[in-house]
Amino acid sequence: MRKNKTIAFIAGFVFALLCFLAVNAAMGPFSTPEYCGTTCHEMGLAYRTWELSPHGANNKGVRADCVDCHLPPKDKYFHHLFAKAYAGGKDIYKHHFGGEYDRDKMSRHVLDHLPNANCMSCHNDLLKKPANAAVHLAHQGLETYPDAPENRCVRCHQTAGHEHESKLFSP
Ligand code: HEC
Ligand code: HEC
Ligand code: HEC
Repeated sequence: MRKNKTIAFIAGFVFALLCFLAVNAAMGPFSTPEYCGTTCHEMGLAYRTWELSPHGANNKGVRADCVDCHLPPKDKYFHHLFAKAYAGGKDIYKHHFGGEYDRDKMSRHVLDHLPNANCMSCHNDLLKKPANAAVHLAHQGLETYPDAPENRCVRCHQTAGHEHESKLFSP
């Protein structure tokens, strides 16, 4: 049984890798939120709550896609590509063998691991020109201790990527 799973995982991984290598040259369809958010039912809520978040829709017209936050920045091309193949393989594996999807656990996992660098690839001017004094104060710790756990972006900005689920049902 264990062996089957290993084989399935490797097959999923290789499959994902081949797909991504083939289609990825132009950051193809696997990168779009529509693909990430609608292919597996596990992602349904994540997709709909992202749509409501400032990164799914904002008046600047700049959207942050799933991969912008959940994978290493695209300028590190191969790192990004392999992380994506790995994540894709893991998603396929979990989809078929992972049992019940535990949303809270996934959410905590992301909150514990999402690196500041993923946010900073867009928000790199954060410390240079804060909107106001309060924002500056809130981000001051980042300057001195950028790697401290309490200075992780998503620790303070938990809903940056996804509005709270309850917003889906309020008018
Ligand atoms: C601005 C950054 C950002 C973007 C863009 C983003 N996410 Fe997230 N995502 C997060 C953070 C932070 C968490 C952990 C907190 C939470 O659950 O909301 C998370 C949690 C998740 C989770 C685990 C919890 C759950 O709801 O199942 C999944 C799955 C997920 N995201 C998928 C996606 C998909 C699919 C997209 C695109 C449609 C996306 N994310 C876009 C930051 C982001
Ligand atoms: C692809 C670029 C991109 C990435 C990656 C990104 N953001 Fe953003 N973010 C934006 C844009 C664009 C806005 C909207 C700007 C505005 O309205 O002033 C925004 C707005 C925000 C806001 C203000 C939201 C509000 O309520 O108006 C916060 C907080 C924020 N981002 C945090 C984060 C965090 C935390 C991460 C990493 C998990 C992240 N962002 C990743 C582009 C990005
Ligand atoms: C100690 C808590 C804390 C940490 C850590 C933190 N922020 Fe903030 N951030 C705030 C507060 C408080 C505000 C102002 C209220 C708001 O918009 O949520 C803010 C505002 C913002 C805004 C709105 C921008 C503006 O100038 O109005 C962005 C974008 C943002 N943060 C991104 C980030 C990113 C990216 C990181 C990680 C590099 C980060 N924050 C880390 C607390 C924090």
